[in-house]
Amino acid sequence: MDVTLDTIANLAKRRGFVFPSSEIYGGIRSAYDYGPVGVEMLRNVKNEWWRSMVQEREDVVGVDTAIIQSRQVWVASGHEAVFTDPLVECRECNSRWRLDKLDDPDRCPACGGRDTFTEPRQFNLMFKTHMGPVEDDENLVYLRPETAQGIFINFENVRRTSRLKLPFGIAQVGKSFRNEITPGQFVFRTREFEQMEMEYFCRPEEAQKWFDYWVETRFRWYVDLGMTETHLRIRPHDADELSHYSAATVDIEYEFPWGWDELEGVANRTDYDLRQHSAHSGVDLRYFDQDTGERFFPYVIEPAAGATRTMFAFLIDAYHTEEVRGETRVVLRLHHRLAPYKLAVLPLSKRPELVEPAAKIAQDLRKRWMLDFDVTQSIGRRYRRQDEIGTPYCITFDFDSIEDHAVTVRDRDTMQQDRVSIDRLVEYLEPRLA
Ligand code: GAP
Repeated sequence: MDVTLDTIANLAKRRGFVFPSSEIYGGIRSAYDYGPVGVEMLRNVKNEWWRSMVQEREDVVGVDTAIIQSRQVWVASGHEAVFTDPLVECRECNSRWRLDKLDDPDRCPACGGRDTFTEPRQFNLMFKTHMGPVEDDENLVYLRPETAQGIFINFENVRRTSRLKLPFGIAQVGKSFRNEITPGQFVFRTREFEQMEMEYFCRPEEAQKWFDYWVETRFRWYVDLGMTETHLRIRPHDADELSHYSAATVDIEYEFPWGWDELEGVANRTDYDLRQHSAHSGVDLRYFDQDTGERFFPYVIEPAAGATRTMFAFLIDAYHTEEVRGETRVVLRLHHRLAPYKLAVLPLSKRPELVEPAAKIAQDLRKRWMLDFDVTQSIGRRYRRQDEIGTPYCITFDFDSIEDHAVTVRDRDTMQQDRVSIDRLVEYLEPRLA
């Protein structure tokens, strides 16, 4: 791996992927804003997930549920009682740490103090707020820490309206919030982030089969979108790592610059959530099998990924440098489906006889593909910028184009240039960007 965290964070800021949030006020730790280039890539990550998890499947439908739900949801799910991390505070320097993430549980990483930690206390990660103008306990609500519960509480609504039979899945992409004790490593662990989760409901005796299926399917998704297979691995959780709802979990891990870390978890949540919500709400959430006449709580297999974390991993994996004619070229070898812009249209100079026809070509191509139109600086610099944001093809309109009605199309990865007639551009690009 030839890239550091700082290299990616600098590139992300310089090129408009990710900015530290509230920067003009000195920043707010661990919150980030996505810029014009980053918002496109993040959207592409979410769209590719949706395409493979919902659009291309007959057994999965989507929902988009509220971030603020009844407090009872989090009582029933167990989050109010046990969604906690062990917090210790250093008595010397007052820094706070998550005990289970420390290399040495007796030494403060900030001041080096030995045996200076307080006794660990369980810190609940849910953000609290109040619904309405009165800030009392009765109006206490939480920002959701996972999108999954919005799916469980709508299980019966979705089943009834979609008329799906087991096994079937319900998918959701959206923001989640956790008051992490130690956020960090750029956008890897933040307090506000986006998740891509799917709850796959099945007969209990088929849970293991679907668990294996989803681990394999999700692993392939990353590889098919260009992630280096040797930078990915599957790691089963030890019994003491399991979440309160899980009978078995494996993490799909990526080799980040600091080592292997979680990209996505696939969990067997058993019938825990539907049972809990039935018991707390009094609404029977059992599934009725019309063929056998049985009524039972389905088991749930849950592939749960972070959209922001996934985008970060794809950025790291795509980052390459190479020597070209004595200069270092930085290139993001992103899969074209993830690339923020598929094309850049670049008039060779700022002269109107080049800019105007180039702008017309850009306007035509925009209907099909997200593209960048750039007239600033030398063509070499503009190529370099597009390489750094991973644009697969640059289209240059030069002085010859006025005569031959053709443009130069440059391939990001090979840097090979083809002369393509303007009226055949779509035909040329379509199979390459399919
Ligand atoms: N519903 C199950 C669930 O939420 P999780 O392993 O806690 O499981 C799923 O979260 C995924 O969400 C993680 O694998 C990670 O990609 C992402 N994620 C979790 N906490 C995050 C954080 N603080 N910042 C960014 N992404 C996070």
